[in-house]
Amino acid sequence: MRDARWKDLLAMCLCTIAIFNSATLSAQQPKDPGPRAGAPGAGSFFPTLNDNEQLLFNQAFARFQEVDSVSGTIEAGKGLGPTFNGNSCAMCHSQPAAGGSSPGLISPQNPVPNPQVALATLDGATNQVPSFITANGPVREARFIAVNPKNLNSPLDGGVHGLYTIQGRSDAPGCSLAQPPFAQQIAAGNVIYRIPTPLFGLGLVENTPDATLQQNLASTQNARAQLGIGGSFNSSGNDGTITRFGWKAQNKSVLVFVGEAYNVEQGVSNEVFPNERSAVTGCVFNPTPEDASNILNGNPNSQNFGTTIGTLSEMSSDVLNFALFARLTAPPTPAQPTQSTINGSNLFNSIGCALCHSPSLTTAASGFTGMSNVVYAPYSDFALHHMGASLADGINQGAAGPDQFRTAPLWGLGQRLFFLHDGRTSDLLQAIADHTGDTRHCAQSATAQLFYVLTTNSVFEPETQSQFCGSEAGNVIKNFNALKPSQQQDILNFLRSL
Ligand code: HEC
Ligand code: HEC
Repeated sequence: MRDARWKDLLAMCLCTIAIFNSATLSAQQPKDPGPRAGAPGAGSFFPTLNDNEQLLFNQAFARFQEVDSVSGTIEAGKGLGPTFNGNSCAMCHSQPAAGGSSPGLISPQNPVPNPQVALATLDGATNQVPSFITANGPVREARFIAVNPKNLNSPLDGGVHGLYTIQGRSDAPGCSLAQPPFAQQIAAGNVIYRIPTPLFGLGLVENTPDATLQQNLASTQNARAQLGIGGSFNSSGNDGTITRFGWKAQNKSVLVFVGEAYNVEQGVSNEVFPNERSAVTGCVFNPTPEDASNILNGNPNSQNFGTTIGTLSEMSSDVLNFALFARLTAPPTPAQPTQSTINGSNLFNSIGCALCHSPSLTTAASGFTGMSNVVYAPYSDFALHHMGASLADGINQGAAGPDQFRTAPLWGLGQRLFFLHDGRTSDLLQAIADHTGDTRHCAQSATAQLFYVLTTNSVFEPETQSQFCGSEAGNVIKNFNALKPSQQQDILNFLRSL
């Protein structure tokens, strides 16, 4: 009896100590505050546009949200498939508002499960949901690294393989087309993922002169060299200018990107990418291109030509409307600063995050009202950096090699749900930690040919050890780790204010 009481007392004591400890500990440990609640800070037109431009934006925005079926008989848009990852732009680009990044269940604005799950069997389709698509995970597309992962001399693949096909859909009678063998390819370590990047403010990015980007990079040359940070631009093989869109800055313009997206993500051939992918006999239902400007014969609106701005949008192809939407969107609006976010912003600059995540760029003159010489805050230099083994994906795109990525723009980050190119985490601390590269693999690199797990293919042999070993951001992350917990918290609060 007496014993038991003592034990109880002891247990109570220990318990109190434990609670006390965990309370003080949790007060000290920095924590990602999570996606910012409240109204979306994005999704509208650039604020200085005139009435006609606003009208055009609204029409283009509606087009961005249109849902496609195979021949336009079930859902109003036409041209879905034969292969696809989504059935409307806004399906994947929707957080915190249409035009944004992947939706998700943890959204404070619009909590929804990953729409790619229900899409697998929409309208009678017979697709299996691949293992990397889950209800609470991000919207994803998949790329294969090598053509044949079992053969060390296999040529590289690198392309997007559509998750789904239109087989079985009630509007695709007679189409027989299997999905790629995802489980098998995953087992061979041959599949990497990409999540959607937001479109807000892309008109400003597009209209930033090459010289401005080059000067911005040159201005930090010495500071970067001291921390071991390189940086180079991806460029167009066609005209030699800087390319800046996509996770590897692989695409030249908004128009090129939306044209590619329409064909790759939805299977809609168009004026920019006119040839159908996977055009298997029996699965092609429309003349190509499936989306075109209504200028020639058969234009349903020809009697209205040129009479109103609304008609201009009607006349224009979907891709032109998508591009207009992207060009006329406003950049995300950050939250009101607090003392903590101001501290965080200063620390973000002083420890070196801003050497890649550039806080300010200026556009050229623009034909759109009020969009000339705009100073904007993308938090990106739009340059490529070697990010080391933990982020490397084994994909080459233009000048971007297997471990190089465009500095991800951080504007709008406060209301984003998933981070890094593959959407592997929702936790900013994890996203920051993964900038370090992987020292374990790095240490092996002196002897091993390949040191990041994904690759089973000798084609990814590093050019020089230093390029692939570790990450250019390594020293900056050391600076971050050396900060006091309260200072790290200030940086997290700052990031969630963007
Ligand atoms: C299945 C999901 C999905 C659908 C549907 C989709 N996208 Fe995307 N989008 C992505 C992914 C993933 C990326 C990143 C691709 C990359 O860089 O490899 C992306 C990137 C983009 C970018 C580049 C943004 C930047 O920051 O550089 C633009 C522009 C874009 N998409 C426009 C569109 C348009 C327009 C549509 C409709 C025709 C569309 N997307 C449909 C998933 C999707
Ligand atoms: C050497 C250049 C470089 C430095 C320095 C750097 N970053 Fe990054 N950052 C990148 C690149 C490149 C990516 C995209 C990587 C990927 O997705 O694989 C990225 C991605 C991110 C992301 C995820 C964004 C998204 O869209 O998912 C966050 C958050 C981030 N960085 C914060 C920071 C912070 C905070 C610091 C300083 C502690 C920092 N970065 C320092 C280059 C850098």
